[in-house]
Amino acid sequence: MSDLSVSHLLGIKNLTTEDIHLIFKTAEQFKEVINRPIKKVPSLRDITVANLFFENSTRTRLSFEIAEKRLSADVVNFSAAQSSVKKGETLIDTVNNILAMKVDMVVMRHSHPGAAHFLSQHVDASIINAGDGAHEHPTQALLDAFSMQSALQSDIKGAKVAIIGDILHSRVALSNIFCLQKLGAEVMVCGPQTLIPKHMPEMGVLVETNVDKALAWADVANMLRVQHERMNLPYFPTLREYVTHYGVTMERLEALPKVPVIMHPGPINRGVEITSEVADSKHSIILQQVENGVAIRMAVLYLLAAKRTMNFTA
Ligand code: CP
Repeated sequence: MSDLSVSHLLGIKNLTTEDIHLIFKTAEQFKEVINRPIKKVPSLRDITVANLFFENSTRTRLSFEIAEKRLSADVVNFSAAQSSVKKGETLIDTVNNILAMKVDMVVMRHSHPGAAHFLSQHVDASIINAGDGAHEHPTQALLDAFSMQSALQSDIKGAKVAIIGDILHSRVALSNIFCLQKLGAEVMVCGPQTLIPKHMPEMGVLVETNVDKALAWADVANMLRVQHERMNLPYFPTLREYVTHYGVTMERLEALPKVPVIMHPGPINRGVEITSEVADSKHSIILQQVENGVAIRMAVLYLLAAKRTMNFTA
């Protein structure tokens, strides 16, 4: 198979396992490109990509912009904070105005689950979901799984992956679960019971509330931050108690017979879900995740642009 089954990347749920393998294979080639002295290729020349960020982002926004520029696309950036959204303009009006300027692809982050899907129903451009509320963050899951594969130096099939932290408010958790299960990994979520959605067992996901047991079980531990900004209720008594029960420290890791690979999608709350010592240790692949993010996003942009060309010429 040489093309994606989808015309937009709205979530991992819509991808086939073959799509994921194709994205990884393409990302391997782009990883080689971005490590050359001349890092740019002409693959997206004459393609205009708009990065529409209605919600804050550091890594995803910069990573997409670098990926687009490495592929020689024309790039426009939009941030809601400096836009007419503040004057009451609707999402569809904002996007239609941008598309009237002949944009081919849109990378969008929005606080509403389903915003990227809504857009894909109303505009002609190819849409990439860069995070929609607490729903999905597909490129994060792809770069996480790609990084795990590289760290484990093997296929993910059969690997034990614990996702630890605030699962309830996390789009990264849901996309990771879909992606890892499609690749044949065993997935466990760990955190306070109040931060674990009730439907996890129905999805075939193991649930553990003891972080030491989760770390002892796992080949990989993907640490998630507590998303205070999405909480309208107190989900645990105090932050200090959370750190005591769920914070990953060197002491906790040193007590294990085998230390799992430590991952974090960022932004990190150092000293809360993970100490600086752990984040910067030899067990952590956090910066490799960031590097792989550019290659994965180049692959997604490239494959969707190829699909778009095919759809136009068919
Ligand atoms: N991992 C991630 O999505 O980070 P940003 O919110 O900084 O984009």
